[in-house]
Amino acid sequence: MPNTFFITTAIDYTNGAPHIGHAYEKVLADAIARHQRLAGRDVFFLTGVDQHGQKVQQSAQKRGVDPAEFVAEITSLFVELWKKLDLSHDAWAATVENLHKSCVQGMLQRLWDEGQFYKATQSGYYSVRQEQFLTEKERGPDGEFGPEWGEVVEIEEENYYFKLAEHRDWLLHLIDSRTQAGNPLVVPDFRVAELRNAVEKLTGDLCISRPKSRLTWGIELPFDPAFVTYVWFDALSNYISFAGYDAQPGADLSLFKSRWPALHVIGKDILIPPHGIYWMIMLRALGFTNAEMPTLLVHGWWNISGAKMSKSLGNSIDPEVLVARYGQAAVRYYLLSDISTGRDADFSIERLEQRYNAELANSLGNLLNRTLSMAKRYRSGILRRMESPLAAFVQEKTTAYDAAMKSYQVQAAIEAAMEIVTRCNAYVEETAPWKLAKDPAQSDKLDEVLYTLSESLRIISILMSPIIPREADAIRAQLNWQVEASLAATQWGALPEGHQLGEPVPLFPRIETQE
Ligand code: MSP
Repeated sequence: MPNTFFITTAIDYTNGAPHIGHAYEKVLADAIARHQRLAGRDVFFLTGVDQHGQKVQQSAQKRGVDPAEFVAEITSLFVELWKKLDLSHDAWAATVENLHKSCVQGMLQRLWDEGQFYKATQSGYYSVRQEQFLTEKERGPDGEFGPEWGEVVEIEEENYYFKLAEHRDWLLHLIDSRTQAGNPLVVPDFRVAELRNAVEKLTGDLCISRPKSRLTWGIELPFDPAFVTYVWFDALSNYISFAGYDAQPGADLSLFKSRWPALHVIGKDILIPPHGIYWMIMLRALGFTNAEMPTLLVHGWWNISGAKMSKSLGNSIDPEVLVARYGQAAVRYYLLSDISTGRDADFSIERLEQRYNAELANSLGNLLNRTLSMAKRYRSGILRRMESPLAAFVQEKTTAYDAAMKSYQVQAAIEAAMEIVTRCNAYVEETAPWKLAKDPAQSDKLDEVLYTLSESLRIISILMSPIIPREADAIRAQLNWQVEASLAATQWGALPEGHQLGEPVPLFPRIETQE
């Protein structure tokens, strides 16, 4: 049993600027990682960039720059954005790094030595423009290859193939046994059937090489320098190469094994075939046991008015612009609360603004501000430790929050935390502390209200820390609660008798909406 919670994201292609879909995936993984840290686990959170391949080589060529220079430039956009979004990754996977290249070469060499690859000649129709072989599927209704393929020529090419199909029955069995054990290979489980159907249809092997005559921007095959490896073989390997793996027989894998297996957070478009088929079979061929197979957490897509976001449609949303305009808390909160993990959602600026104003500015921000202001006015910010009528409710919501986070239902977790906020605001209206303050006979009741609100806010700050970490810290600072956030610290009643609260400072300035 590894002692680390190992979480990865898909690594992003560096052939264009990051968009909101990339940002969502990273923030989702970050929230999960932060929750695990709160639960007291060691976490190894890995994210990065996918820098090789044909598309990157082509984009660099178009710009007339060296691919290395091209990827360095795009990579810096991702690096800067992740800083602005407060991602808490522990390691950075950039696939041009030597450590990664030599690990991948070790894997290739081992699979070659063990007879998992073979060399074969493929002949067929090849699109020069798209640089790929075409199959019958690509023919139009008139039987011809359409103009999108440009010049199509018949060529013959030698390549190396990975014996995928041999592992088909094993993979089917793995999928079924993981489901039976209540630990599905793919989460949410409605995607399991999709993967299983695809595996059942698996017949062909996987071409894992590209001749250097058409692609040089990749990792060279250690056993044949006339080829580089296919970009997916390279990219998928990041999950182990940056975690201390080494394919050499007899290598010391103790660090790696303390981390592995991982939870891979990926989008639905890269489940089949790369993660659900290629990656599982690559691991198996390298000798990973069934118990050492990872779990795939597959999220849905952010669309724009139901349509796919894409550069060519010109409708992609630049997270950089959103963060500059609304701040990272608004962006993180929106991306995590307005989509149900696994499903698609529509991106809407109006909803981002509305939800921020209603939930963060009006509900949470207001609760914090009125609590601290009243405590300051009526009690110089000093609390008495009182019994509370909300204690059981808060504990119940905390438990619901934790269960939702453990099953990666971040939206449901936020809802549970925000129900505490709503309940507290209603409690303020019900108890009307401004009236209690006028009546000396109600002095204990006033102390009970102030303690209840402060203690609830302390717990809310912990629950919200995976979602909006900076603001959660700021809440704790205003409460003058110096203890490090942890789930263990969500037990009701930690603020002691005589606790001195801090100064109220407005935390979530309202967004001026467009109307
Ligand atoms: N480089 C590959 C992944 C290699 S993993 C070993 C890749 N890159 S990508 O840049 O195209 O996509 C990166 C991640 O962003 C993928 O998980 C993808 O599903 C996700 N998203 C891309 N567009 C998205 C949305 N519109 N919405 C949500 N996620 C989306 O695939």
